[in-house]
Amino acid sequence: MSSRSPNSLIDLKPNNQLCSRQEILHLFSTVQKNAKPDPAQNLGRTAALVFLEASTRTRLSFETACVRLGLHPLIVSGKSGTSLEKGETGRDTIHNVAAMNPAVVIVRSGDDLDQEKIADEIQMPLLNAGWGKKGHPTQALLDAYTIWNRRGRIEGEKILIVGDVRHSRVASSHFELAQILGYEIALCGPEEYLPETAGFKTFADLREGLQWSTSVMALRVQTERHAGGAKMGRDYAEIYGLNLRSLPLLKKDHLILHPGPVNYGVEIDEAAYRDSRSVILEQVTNGVGIRQALVARALEGGKR
Ligand code: CP
Repeated sequence: MSSRSPNSLIDLKPNNQLCSRQEILHLFSTVQKNAKPDPAQNLGRTAALVFLEASTRTRLSFETACVRLGLHPLIVSGKSGTSLEKGETGRDTIHNVAAMNPAVVIVRSGDDLDQEKIADEIQMPLLNAGWGKKGHPTQALLDAYTIWNRRGRIEGEKILIVGDVRHSRVASSHFELAQILGYEIALCGPEEYLPETAGFKTFADLREGLQWSTSVMALRVQTERHAGGAKMGRDYAEIYGLNLRSLPLLKKDHLILHPGPVNYGVEIDEAAYRDSRSVILEQVTNGVGIRQALVARALEGGKR
């Protein structure tokens, strides 16, 4: 029996016996052996999801995708219960999670975090799950996939993006993706919600925009990214909302998209959300498939 206190840090056994030197060295060599998981099989491999901003669809669809690929998701979701509460930075959080050697790191953050720099600093692929106003590439991809899957093509599609384009990372990613895939974009919304230098066709009148378009995407007013409060409520809904008043202006084969979450009674109402032309929940379903394919691609492609 040992004379050491049973509270000794290495006193791990329930019968209060200390581990022997030999046992501890065996433990060390086991740790060394396990340090590099076999990349040929996903058993025991993890995917780190570091979500520094709120999310439902993106986080849960990435989680589902990881589970389907045999990766166990490790989740940081907001500050609560993590050392972010103690003042640890987002960058340090990601570096520490990456030090646990997940197969991939998936990050949602504000503009303040330099995701691109961190991607260069860590050893594994980093996937952008929404980055401030800069971009939300997996959302743009799943939107484009949803249209492509419905129509059998995406080139030539004319998407009217309505609402708070200036503060939307989804719109930013569509600006890039449209050029690659060959679809057209036009914008509609109050002047203060449109980018100062858009370089896209804009419509002040929703009716004209709907006439031009083949699909319409309503955006949530991003109140959390507005410096001096956002213009919302009845005026906005009457002029720009997809609702009982504007639904009759849509063509029979228009597609109604929304990245979610929605503010009912503002940019969209229940009737438009549930209209037969709405593919909003289809977008969510397709989000799992797109993210699964992207995580698989990251695993195959390694760092790049
Ligand atoms: N569209 C989207 O990013 O939704 P979440 O914020 O719920 O992930």
